Amino acid sequence: MTSSSRDRVGVAVIGAGAISNEYLSNLTSFPDLDVLMVADLDVDRARAQAEKHGVPAWGGMADALAHPGVEIVSNLTIPAAHVEVSTAILQAGKHVWTEKPLALDRAGGAGLLQLAAQQGLRIGSAPDTILGRGQQTAQRLISSGVIGRPLTATTMMQDPGPECWHPSPEFIYAKGGGPLWDRGPYYLAMLTQLLGPVRSVAGLALTTYADRTIATGPKAGTVFPVEVPTSINVLTEFVGGQIAQSTYSFESALPRNGFVEISGTEGTLAIPDPNRFDGDLYLFPARQWTLAELIAIDGIEPPRSEWTTLPTEKATAKRGSGLLDMARSIRAGVAHRASAELGYHVLDTLIAITEATENRSFIPIDSTADTPEPLPEDWDPYAATL
Ligand SMILES: NC(=O)c1ccc[n+]([C@@H]2O[C@H](COP(=O)([O-])OP(=O)(O)OC[C@H]3O[C@@H](n4cnc5c(N)ncnc54)[C@H](O)[C@@H]3O)[C@@H](O)[C@H]2O)c1
Repeated sequence: MTSSSRDRVGVAVIGAGAISNEYLSNLTSFPDLDVLMVADLDVDRARAQAEKHGVPAWGGMADALAHPGVEIVSNLTIPAAHVEVSTAILQAGKHVWTEKPLALDRAGGAGLLQLAAQQGLRIGSAPDTILGRGQQTAQRLISSGVIGRPLTATTMMQDPGPECWHPSPEFIYAKGGGPLWDRGPYYLAMLTQLLGPVRSVAGLALTTYADRTIATGPKAGTVFPVEVPTSINVLTEFVGGQIAQSTYSFESALPRNGFVEISGTEGTLAIPDPNRFDGDLYLFPARQWTLAELIAIDGIEPPRSEWTTLPTEKATAKRGSGLLDMARSIRAGVAHRASAELGYHVLDTLIAITEATENRSFIPIDSTADTPEPLPEDWDPYAATL
């Protein structure tokens, strides 16, 4: 195929903040995409990012929406702006890729899905880490029965909070933020991918500090308010009957990110951090134990060296792969994997957890989402397929 006969998908990015570097360096490296514009409220910031990543144009949101070559717009704005920006993208007749969360409330998320359906347009929603090697491999292994029938999951993310590294962390402590809303989407999308949709949730939450202080960048030393819970413990019941316990905390001196174990009738599978695309998997098969062996472990888990390391797949998804999968799926006329329905189910579950912590009750989940098909084993973001 010559470059002139290619049918690449034109992309614009709205939001030139912290995560735009990773997106722009990845999206511009995928041959099936043509990144045409970077936009932001701050046009100088958009320009700097466009120049840094070799993108030919920059401007404000209206410029991106008016660009005739743009088919998908990636919404990388802060959570409070997601619905407004995604609505404008759909009204301009373009497909949306949105960072998480899809919206801040059910009405906002449902309104986006409805508008997309009316317009005959697509929404793809982060996280696309479900396309990463670790989780793709986990999906295939669990489907093939490596742990038998999945029964329980334990997930944990705890650290002191992102104000130590993010130069503008205020939004991570505003509505739509906190460890549950900022990191929960990775865990909930992963659990839905591996165990199926959620049936109900319960939780407890606390907020210890009324404000936090930015540690790095031009605003270092700035004190800002904390508007959301900063430690949340969640119980989750899945439609398939499995149960999970999950910790989300920005109040732990000990960083322990990305701890995920799923246990089934035949073994336990340790899965890499769902906020990453790489990492190894470990299997601890079911076995007979003597009392002496159990006492020897004494509360400390067997070291990974005693687990079986499982080979991960070759596919090299990165942040932005969900958008690429959507672009290829648009051309092929098939469903994309990081779907609006999955984004909405994750949003619905985040809201239900928040309600459960406020009401101290189990909250049923009305929405559902299909488990996305695994990527083909030879899926290659760097192949020119369009
Ligand atoms: N920073 C990370 O490591 C990270 C990782 C994964 C996902 N995310 C998600 O990516 C999104 C952006 O995060 P970030 O850390 O880059 O935030 P950020 O605050 O660094 O950048 C957001 C950018 O969006 C722009 N913006 C806000 N409202 C806008 C509007 N209405 N129109 C145009 N531009 C607007 C801001 O001017 C800013 O440049 C969030 O949804 C976040 O959850 C961030």
